[in-house]
Amino acid sequence: MVEATELPRIIQVRDNLYAAAFSLMKLLPARFIIDSAEASGTLTPGTQIIETSSGTFGLGLALVCRLRGYPLTIVGDSAVDHDLRNRLQLLGARVEIVEDRGQPGGIQGARLARVEELRRLRPDSFIPNQYDNPGNPEAYSVVADLVSDTLGSVDCLVGPVGSGGSTGGLATALRHRNSGLHLVGVDTHGSIIFGSPEGARTLRGLGSSIRPGNVNHSAYDEVHWVTAGEAFHATHELYRDHGLFMGPTSGASFQTAAWWAAQNPDSTVVMVLPDEGYRYQSTVYNNTWLRENGFDLASRPTSPVMVEHPWESENVWSRLLWARREFRVVAEQAVGV
Ligand SMILES: Cc1ncc(COP(=O)(O)O)c(C=O)c1O
Repeated sequence: MVEATELPRIIQVRDNLYAAAFSLMKLLPARFIIDSAEASGTLTPGTQIIETSSGTFGLGLALVCRLRGYPLTIVGDSAVDHDLRNRLQLLGARVEIVEDRGQPGGIQGARLARVEELRRLRPDSFIPNQYDNPGNPEAYSVVADLVSDTLGSVDCLVGPVGSGGSTGGLATALRHRNSGLHLVGVDTHGSIIFGSPEGARTLRGLGSSIRPGNVNHSAYDEVHWVTAGEAFHATHELYRDHGLFMGPTSGASFQTAAWWAAQNPDSTVVMVLPDEGYRYQSTVYNNTWLRENGFDLASRPTSPVMVEHPWESENVWSRLLWARREFRVVAEQAVGV
């Protein structure tokens, strides 16, 4: 099941725009990290596994742990809705939900603190730690092989950034073939990954209230911030116009990639679509929910606003030429150091 499901389908969406469409992208790093831990002897039969996740990594891990017989505790937050919680529990995972009480590091900080507490209680447990484990980006080299074997040379990769594993891992592997590969990371306002001011985030799955070790900032050529409403609009468009029923981070990726591909008609562009739409049927795909939550999908901007610094990314689709700089270099520019 895992081998048959963990790789994406490569789909031509427009002339020069291709999708790497995953059913459940996080199955791949979950399986890879568990394989590596088994190979190194860190995991032995029955080892307790503890991880924090708001969604897909938890589900990927729960599937692998169930198949391999490891007990799993997932520490999540309100993004783990009732249906997801049920799916995790049906796989035998124990689910703990923590709340944001305004502590430093926001909700991610609260989740990580709870994982630490659980580790102290069970020092022999294994924590995959998708945010810092190098196995997360490394897992994607097989996807880079698939993309290259299918499409040949790729000029630009666009994808949403959460832990940084997928975009970072894919770009590293694709750049072995084409060092000029242009990498576009897609984030959302309120996420601190690329230095925009911390705030509430409606669009989840991408973005973060911590800066994960697996985000290799100097790999990105440009960064876009998209709003939840824009991403939901693009998610509908991806389904309506191209028949791809995907989640909202796929919409964010499509919004950015379609624009980039249109600006660069001679380039081959690949966009990462991380998961399917089923989990979002009662929200992003539900017009009543959209209306009640103030989302009007009538229109969205057709191009991003250029910004010089992450702090300028107002609540509208924004684009910054990151130019493969270290985070520190971009951040220091802010205070004029
Ligand atoms: C639905 C979804 N999209 C995008 C991402 C971001 O991918 P990555 O963590 O590889 O940066 C995640 C991460 O969990 C996700 O769950």
